[in-house]
Amino acid sequence: MTSVAERLGAARDRTLTLVADLPDEVLHRPLDPIMSPLVWALAHIAAYEDLWAVHRLGGEPLLREDLAATYDAFETPRAARGDVELLDRAGALEYMDSVRERTLDVLDRAGEGELHELVISHELQHTETMRQALFLGGLPGGAPDALPRFPGPPEPVEVPGGTVTVGADGDGFAYDNERPRHTVELAPYAVARAPVTNAQLGREEGHPDEPVLHVSWHEADAFARSVGARLPTEHEWEHAAALGLLDGVGCAWEWTASEFCGYPGFVAHPYPEYSEVFFDRGHRVLRGGSWATAPEVRSPSFRNWDLPERRQIFSGLRLVWDR
Ligand code: AVJ
Ligand code: FE
Repeated sequence: MTSVAERLGAARDRTLTLVADLPDEVLHRPLDPIMSPLVWALAHIAAYEDLWAVHRLGGEPLLREDLAATYDAFETPRAARGDVELLDRAGALEYMDSVRERTLDVLDRAGEGELHELVISHELQHTETMRQALFLGGLPGGAPDALPRFPGPPEPVEVPGGTVTVGADGDGFAYDNERPRHTVELAPYAVARAPVTNAQLGREEGHPDEPVLHVSWHEADAFARSVGARLPTEHEWEHAAALGLLDGVGCAWEWTASEFCGYPGFVAHPYPEYSEVFFDRGHRVLRGGSWATAPEVRSPSFRNWDLPERRQIFSGLRLVWDR
C-alpha cells in the first residue's frame, strides 16, 4: 500500500507539473471572471492543508493566520480573488513547501487519518479546476491530447429496474455527500454504452468520434430530448456504472438530471461548507470524471456538481431511454 506521505507527494507533483511551464503573468491574473487566479489556487491548497492536516489534526496554530481569510473559499469568493492582494508565485510555492513540512511532522506524530484523505482529494480536485481556468484562457493544459473514440450511433443497453443500493460503501474515504448509502427504486431503463460524441452533438471542433466536452446542463438536457432520450438520474448512472455497463467513463464528466441535494439522513462531515451549503440551490450533479480528473478521486459514487449554465467544466453526457 502506498503511504499517505507518498500520496501527498504525488498530489503535489501533479500540481507543480501543471504550473511549471506557465509564465508568471498567466499565474497572477484571473484567466476568466468565474475562475480564481492560479496563484490563488496554489496558496489555497496550502491554507487548506494547514487548516486540516496541521491545525485541526495536530493542534498546531496556523502557520499564517494572516492569510486564512484570503485563502478561504467562502470568505474570499471567486469573483473577489482578482482584487485582493495575493502571494506571488514564489510566495505561494514557499507557503506550500512550509505547510507540507508541518504536515509531514504531524503525520509522523499523529499517524495517517481521514483528514489526510480530505487534503489529498482537495489538492487533486484543484488541479482539475486549474485546468478549467487554463481552458477558459485558451492556454496549454486546458485540453486533452486525445480521447478514446466511440464511432457509430449510441447503443442502448437494457437495465432492469428494481431496488438498488447507491452511495459510498464503508471501504475507504468518501465525501459526506455520498453518504449514507441507501436504497432507491428504479424503473427499467436503457443506457447508452458510450458517451455522446462531437459528431452526434454537431460540434465542429475536436475529433467527431471523441466524447463531447464543455456542454452546459441546458444544452445536454435539450440535446437528449431532441433525440427522444433524456439525461439519466444520478442513481441510474451510478447503478449502471456499478454494473460495469458504461464505456468511456472518465473522458468527460456526465451531466445527470439530478439536482445536488443531501441523501436521506445526510450528516455534514467534517464541515458544512464542503457540500451542504451547495444543496438545493440549483446545482446539477455530474458523475464519472474527466480526462483532467486524477484517477484517485474517481469512483462510481463520487458526486460532482456545477450550475446548469456552466460549460468551463470538462462536461459531456450520456443518453438514457425509458423502457
Ligand atoms: C466538488 C469540484 C465542485 O471545486 O468547488 C475544492 C471541490 N471543494 N475546494 C469545487 C472543492 C473545495 C468542488 N467541486
Ligand atoms: Fe478548495
